Amino acid sequence: MRVLGIETSCDETGVALYDTERGLAADALHSQIAMHAEYGGVVPELASRDHTRRLLPLIQRVLDDAGLGRDELDAIAYTAGPGLVGALMVGASTAHGLARALDIPVLGVHHMEGHLLAPMLEDAPPAFPFAALLVSGGHTQLVEVAGLGRYRLLGESVDDAAGEAFDKAAKMLGLDYPGGPAVARLAEDGDPTRLRFPRPMTDRPGLDFSFSGLKTHTLTAIRQLEAAGDLDEKARADVARAFEEAVVDTLVIKCRRALDQTGLKRLVVAGGVSANARLRERLAREAAKRDAEVFYPRGRFCTDNGAMIAYVGAQRLLAGERDELGQMQAVPRWPMDGLEPPEGMDRLGL
Ligand code: KG4
Ligand code: ZN
Repeated sequence: MRVLGIETSCDETGVALYDTERGLAADALHSQIAMHAEYGGVVPELASRDHTRRLLPLIQRVLDDAGLGRDELDAIAYTAGPGLVGALMVGASTAHGLARALDIPVLGVHHMEGHLLAPMLEDAPPAFPFAALLVSGGHTQLVEVAGLGRYRLLGESVDDAAGEAFDKAAKMLGLDYPGGPAVARLAEDGDPTRLRFPRPMTDRPGLDFSFSGLKTHTLTAIRQLEAAGDLDEKARADVARAFEEAVVDTLVIKCRRALDQTGLKRLVVAGGVSANARLRERLAREAAKRDAEVFYPRGRFCTDNGAMIAYVGAQRLLAGERDELGQMQAVPRWPMDGLEPPEGMDRLGL
């Protein structure tokens, strides 16, 4: 089955073609980062308009790269949520329109299920069951994954997501959006021993996270340095380093706990923050200590992309799931707990 995947939930237009027999055939992405950068964050209306402009040419590019005509598509998957409603509607309506014209099935899929299963696109994918840390700009969650659609939420952020905290810390440090990579770059020159930030919610049991206090702590540290006339480039790097250490350490502590609690030996890390080099280094050390394995999507599939949507859509479409004709879905808030395995999945041995 050849499935076209469409992702437009936020500030990236992603399109890909996944063939259930041959694997990923092509993928293309247009990032709106440069467009939003001058506003310091995503402007929803600009995002929707840009998706409208980019989507059809990207679909054509993916078809050309895969050497396929439109009429050779078997189905279409798109991100139905969570995300910005206007941006989601661009992908949803395009997918439904195209599916109607080609008379093929179409299915709206969950963005976070895409991130969760993105490592399945790699050469050595993790076997079920595994624990997963989903860390993006909108979510920080630990999930136990028994199979497709079989997810148990172990813990999540009670306030800001880890990526959001990176973005806010970046703003305070005068860095460009998106903040994660910028903070990580600045932190490289920082001294990890000069400042120590708290590791929120690690001193009590449980797998929930909280990152909003860390934001306040960062602001206070910056103000104190500023008041003392010490906020030079070196001090900014030290703040970035202390902040990154605190977030990474907190994530690592909770991952360790999740593996202990579930007895699982495989950990998937996905979502934008999974690109963080310091996090990867620390998790690799932890995994080696306990004879566990960590799996990541390839670099460009850590952040939003069409490939993960095509992949998840393909698995569910194969099992017979599809949207009703003309019933496009755009669901801005959509908890992952509501997901279920597709009916008929057992028949397919998924
Ligand atoms: O998954 P994603 O592309 O979009 C959402 O679904 O939110 O994640 C984007 C988030 C942003 O908050 C960005 O700052 C963060 O991932 N990020 C990073 C790094 N690269 C991206 N955070 C820390 N270190 C990085 N290297
Ligand atoms: Zn995402």
